Amino acid sequence: MYNKELSQANFDALENYIGSLPEKKGALIPVLHKAQNLFGYLPKEVQLFICEKLDVPSSKIYGVVSFYSFFTMKPRGQYVINVCMGTACFVRKAEDVIKEFEKQLKISVGETSKDGLYTLEALRCVGACGLAPVVMVNDKIYGHVEKKDIEKILAEQSN
Ligand code: FES
Repeated sequence: MYNKELSQANFDALENYIGSLPEKKGALIPVLHKAQNLFGYLPKEVQLFICEKLDVPSSKIYGVVSFYSFFTMKPRGQYVINVCMGTACFVRKAEDVIKEFEKQLKISVGETSKDGLYTLEALRCVGACGLAPVVMVNDKIYGHVEKKDIEKILAEQSN
């Protein structure tokens, strides 16, 4: 699974990053971003490590991680599929698109496929309403997506 391993190398890289910061006060959010890039998610072990290195209470870290939707405590797939469920996409049948992804991947929104390849999520407007309904796979945007396109979108990722 994508960057899932809680390897020593990742902890070392995180420690080096923290050590390179000129000021540790107020660095919590950048450190959490760095940790999520390294590990792919922010499990308890990583949160406790940060808590010790930055001398921040674990309740504060937990509060920040659960407040911001871009932080996740669950491992994510290599490909994160975000289906926009904002108004413009919703009225253009984004729900059908999401249901088709659920069917083909055999997971529900918020889950990751067993092989660790795909995570399915729903988003609010991503600012590309003219392309509704919109799907993002990692950083790539797909516009005017219909049910029939899903198989192709999934196949494209594994090539
Ligand atoms: S509502 Fe989907 S991009 Fe705006």
